[in-house]
Amino acid sequence: MKMEMERQIGIPNRNPAVFVFLLLLVSCQLCSVVSWKKEEFRNCNQTPFCKRARGRKPSSSSFAAHDVSISDGDLTARLVPSDKTLEDQDQIQIKQLILTLSVYQDGILRLRIDEDPKLDPPKKRFEVPDVVMPEFLSKKLWLQRLSTETIGGDASPSSIVYLLDGYEAVLRHDPFEVYVRKKGGNRVVSMNSHGLFDFELLRVKKDGEDWEERFKGHTDTRPFGPQSISFDVSFYDADHVYGIPERATSFALKPTRGPGVEESEPYRLFNLDVFEYIHDSPFGLYGSIPLMISHGKSRGTSGFFWLNAAEMQIDVLGTGWDAESGISLPTSQSRIDTHWMSEAGIVDAFFFVGPGPKDVVRQYTSVTGTPAMPQLFAVAYHQCRWNYRDEEDVEQVDSKFDEHDIPYDVLWLDIEHTDGKRYFTWDRMLFPHPEEMQRKLAAKGRHLVTIVDPHIKRDDSYFLHKEATEKQYYVRDATGKDYDGWCWSGSSSYLDMLRPEIRSWWAEKFSFENYVGSTPSLYIWNDMNEPSVFNGPEVTMPRDALHVEGVEHRELHNAYGYYFHMATADGLVKRGDGRDRPFVLSRAVFAGSQRHGAVWTGDNSADWDHLRVSVPMVLTLGLTGISFSGADVGGFFGNPEPELLVRWYQLGAYYPFFRAHAHHDTKRREPWLFGEKNTERIREAIHTRYMLLPYFYTLFREANTTGVPVIRPLWMEFPSEEATFSNDEAFMIGSSLLVQGIYTEHARHASVYLPGKELWYDTKTGVAYKGGKTYKLDVNEESIPAFQRAGTIIPRKDRFRRSSTQMVNDPYTLVIALNSSQAAEGELYVDDGRSFGFQEGAYIHRRFVFSDGKLTSVNMAPAAPGQNQFSSECVIERIILQGLSTGQKSALIEPANQKAEIELGPLLLHSKKGPTAITIRKPNVRIADDWVIKLF
Ligand SMILES: *[C@@H]1O[C@H](CO)[C@@H](O)[C@H](O)[C@H]1NC(C)=O
Ligand SMILES: *[C@@H]1O[C@H](CO)[C@@H](O)[C@H](O)[C@H]1NC(C)=O
Repeated sequence: MKMEMERQIGIPNRNPAVFVFLLLLVSCQLCSVVSWKKEEFRNCNQTPFCKRARGRKPSSSSFAAHDVSISDGDLTARLVPSDKTLEDQDQIQIKQLILTLSVYQDGILRLRIDEDPKLDPPKKRFEVPDVVMPEFLSKKLWLQRLSTETIGGDASPSSIVYLLDGYEAVLRHDPFEVYVRKKGGNRVVSMNSHGLFDFELLRVKKDGEDWEERFKGHTDTRPFGPQSISFDVSFYDADHVYGIPERATSFALKPTRGPGVEESEPYRLFNLDVFEYIHDSPFGLYGSIPLMISHGKSRGTSGFFWLNAAEMQIDVLGTGWDAESGISLPTSQSRIDTHWMSEAGIVDAFFFVGPGPKDVVRQYTSVTGTPAMPQLFAVAYHQCRWNYRDEEDVEQVDSKFDEHDIPYDVLWLDIEHTDGKRYFTWDRMLFPHPEEMQRKLAAKGRHLVTIVDPHIKRDDSYFLHKEATEKQYYVRDATGKDYDGWCWSGSSSYLDMLRPEIRSWWAEKFSFENYVGSTPSLYIWNDMNEPSVFNGPEVTMPRDALHVEGVEHRELHNAYGYYFHMATADGLVKRGDGRDRPFVLSRAVFAGSQRHGAVWTGDNSADWDHLRVSVPMVLTLGLTGISFSGADVGGFFGNPEPELLVRWYQLGAYYPFFRAHAHHDTKRREPWLFGEKNTERIREAIHTRYMLLPYFYTLFREANTTGVPVIRPLWMEFPSEEATFSNDEAFMIGSSLLVQGIYTEHARHASVYLPGKELWYDTKTGVAYKGGKTYKLDVNEESIPAFQRAGTIIPRKDRFRRSSTQMVNDPYTLVIALNSSQAAEGELYVDDGRSFGFQEGAYIHRRFVFSDGKLTSVNMAPAAPGQNQFSSECVIERIILQGLSTGQKSALIEPANQKAEIELGPLLLHSKKGPTAITIRKPNVRIADDWVIKLF
């Protein structure tokens, strides 16, 4: 969170008089409509590497691959520029680069290009550590041989290596180009097909050279000169490209340049704390994941990931952008061209062949890791506000949830709970008994989250600052002094989280002994970790600040928050007996963040456009590996109208991460403050989430094992349906549930496209709709449309409790929606909801299959070793069957050989009308057992 006023006038707000003054200032500021401070941030034209790269024409440089050979199981070559690119011979040493192509299992091609160490570069360029999974490296296929062939009308030969059955990787020698193609045929993804490749070598400054860059009173010394890299990437047979979060924009990425395209800024990847971001902009927000995914009807899906943590800018080029270049690619395939530009680092790129959407996500997460398995409570509803003032406030809010019969699992404390923004401390006036407060919450199965940000108050009496200073753990400024920036805590320094040693030290701070006032039910929230620096260039750390071993901040900027998140999550793993899974929410994101916890989309606003854009934002994060994400329900800034708030709860109940949050200048907005009717609607939305917790938790496990996200674009489930490709309004939760948000005021109708050929069952009314059509449905304020896909089984828990942890022993309901072959399938995953025991097999994983008039529960878990069994006495108390076409009247349970009651009646418990379904009452079969229920 961020408050503009404090930043501008630069005073802390502990003093009540100052605080009142600030409030006045803020309220008058709000009436003059503050919004995005565009001029505070650089555009491409103000960013020399971007401006230069964008100005380049196709084929403006060319490099050729020499000495192509196999060494250490990789294909290697020297890239040598052709003379025309060396305008300035005496300044540019011979620009020779080393290229390496490696092949990994599952059809993943890795391309690395770096300076040649033999040519003595002034320093080693930065390679991002601790992102690529060690397991992935062991999946390298050792190349034995390469074949050489002259392809199509090429003037030079190409080297070809095996990639996967049916796919191969090609390196064309001159001009150099790398691509993946179907064996002997169509291309999938290519790099440098348009000759935009450029690579600026590090240099030592000579007398008289001026490399400094100035922006808004800040000077970047750029000690090694410009060091950017850029190249083009093409995706073939693609209808759209997606990915490269984080920004508030449409899901399918619009072209940024090209004929007939309204030229915009390129998509920017640079982690920034953007105050009041706008809802339709290519501008980069708090996180950066340089993964682009293409999808098309004819070929399917492919992906390209550039592991690079420096500022990146990416243009999506409209068809015909290269018309004047004279280049014609040796293929008639349709394609989408893109232009990638980064300020520093190396080329370390991964090509993913797909061919299905889930294949690409699986391939990508095999490189960067699958999402962590959250604790069950973290999947439930979170209540946050900047700030819950004191212990009394916490107690009040907590008891009001019970009074209003609304479940919640986690109460959050923002920065004001600390002693003067010194993290790991408490304001003892406001929170004199933090342990007792947590214990009271824990008694109801609830948890507390406190905030820990990366800015460390430069206060000699603060233990963290003292230790960090003594140990020299801070990031340095360009002159070598501890970097000093302004943030919530006033004058602050920032830990050099790139160093593993500092991360371990940080992790120790979360032990129960070190974090005084913390108990096992307390978890953490990392905000401002872009890092946000109120008085820094573009509200962040200067690019020439220095990390360990002379790494410049510019080289790792986008991963700073990632390392901070990693260290914090590690701290929560290590504390106590190390049994419980961590929960850490982060605002800054990088590739791999999914391994460390949840992410939210930052400081949104209470308006309808932000409600709408939250869907493509969360979908994009899911597509790029971050399954556990959500937007602040209600909108952080501003006061939502009750209708908007209700709609936000109805949508947010389906976000993988479901949290309400609000800025401290907004009116209180706990669910019971907007009249009986609205309280009921919000309660209903939250109940919907709690009912679906078994389904969500099962999906989180699927994400944990396969990388396939909990929330999915429709085309991930229906890859050949074009009508879904740019649908930003509806989404799938898993493969069984389709949700359509309502994004306008006073909506009476909603247009909903239901894909496929099978039926969809409205989850509220049971009405069935045939797939393959757009429906104009009547809607009311009570709920948003959601549909269960025919052919699926969804596990639920329908009894309402105070929190998810109190539902653990509750019985299940299975909701079966039969398809036209009178069949359906679904899964249920259950473990203890908190420990790491599931990794030793302590879990229940069942597949429910309905066919031939019987429902079978099949075990999917391998037998767990002896003491790591997980058992559950939970039973299924109700089975709802929709779409049964024959009139069975009895149910027989095997092997118990018992009969169960069957009832034909209206689907809705509280309505006598409407579609009917069959309900099997009290079959009481245990979820842990094998059984069959036969209908006859
Ligand atoms: C699942 O999550 C756990 C921790 O939450 C993590 O350690 C593990 O690597 C993840 N992936 C798999 C396949 O278990
Ligand atoms: C019906 O559902 C079952 C189980 O999900 C599936 O195997 C089958 O292919 C489906 N039939 C049709 C016609 O979609």
